[in-house]
Amino acid sequence: MKTIPEFSAEHIAENSNPEDSIFHDFLNSKEPYESMFKNNPWMIPPNQKRPLEWGENYWNTTVARKHPYWKEYDLPKPTKNIHTLRENLKEWGYCLIEEALSKEQTKAFMSRILDQAEGEKLAGVKAMSPTGQYIHTLINKGEIFGKCIEQHPDAVQAGPLIEQLLNETLGSGWICHSFLSNGADPGGYPQGMHMDQGPLVPWITEEAPALVNTMYIPQDVNEENGGTLIIPKSHKIMIEAGSAGKIGKLPPTVNLEAKAGTIMIFDGRILHGTGVNKTNERRFVATMSNVKSWMRTQENWSLSVAPEIIKNASPKLLHRMGLQAIVYGATMEGFGMGARGKVGDVWGNMQPFRIAYDEGEYERVRELSPRSSKEELSKNYTVGQASKNAYNLTKKK
Ligand SMILES: [Fe+2]
Repeated sequence: MKTIPEFSAEHIAENSNPEDSIFHDFLNSKEPYESMFKNNPWMIPPNQKRPLEWGENYWNTTVARKHPYWKEYDLPKPTKNIHTLRENLKEWGYCLIEEALSKEQTKAFMSRILDQAEGEKLAGVKAMSPTGQYIHTLINKGEIFGKCIEQHPDAVQAGPLIEQLLNETLGSGWICHSFLSNGADPGGYPQGMHMDQGPLVPWITEEAPALVNTMYIPQDVNEENGGTLIIPKSHKIMIEAGSAGKIGKLPPTVNLEAKAGTIMIFDGRILHGTGVNKTNERRFVATMSNVKSWMRTQENWSLSVAPEIIKNASPKLLHRMGLQAIVYGATMEGFGMGARGKVGDVWGNMQPFRIAYDEGEYERVRELSPRSSKEELSKNYTVGQASKNAYNLTKKK
């Protein structure tokens, strides 16, 4: 085959200097994070190789009512009033639904989370993050969690109210991005302050968020046990800066203070992160983020592609079909969190899951607890197997 010179790799490389790139300045602006860290060094995440230091850092704060700066402000308080909730979400970037879970619902939610955490530990599939233990893919781990995704009042009494607020913010047809439980274990690190719709950066959707998160709070949270760190109203700072805009000096963080049973709805543009747990008890919340209806691939490749194509696919083809997980997309039971979505990254490769599925051998982690049978605790779970394989492959390199 005759090569047309303009289509050759050499010609394209010679004529593709970074400054030729169509949207170079915008897409490579590194904003808003670059200016944010430059103008607010206290926002830089801790070095996880060193013990956590307590100085002028974003994790060194307290709840709003005790905060020297924020106590003057009328920050959102838990309420059932839909008008106040709307105003709070728009003005402050978050709102707190009081008694969103009834006492019974809260108890059922929390005990399932704690049991599952213990069960996953015993089964050797405990998912760890720098902040603490995570429990992924809750939908497979208790009937109540599926009902929460449907906002069914049997599992979450404020469901219809949440549904309405999500319809108003994301447009009806929104879908659930993920539902997982986030642990802040004693001795853990704080999470880096981030926007949940960060993948869209440097775009800041100025008129409305493209992602809205719902945080289930099944136990009291505060400044002691790792209450979520938030910069109230920071979504407005993002909006003012605009896409690829620069961020100046930021107001301080606060720890979220809320009673068990509260649900926090928060804007995908607000700066937040898991706090530090200074107690000896574990702390769990669960986050169900929701996105606009179109945010996924048009073709559902992960299901529709034929088994032999999956088996023989090159790393590039797998990646192109979306079978290469990235930290915020296409993770499998949490596998792929931390992956960079790059071709051939074994830590985000979904192929082993699909092959196991095709062969009828996909073993999902289901409800587990210290009372689970020996057989259940020693199953060959696909996620555990995938992690071991990835670990061995990376070690060899
Ligand atoms: Fe987040």
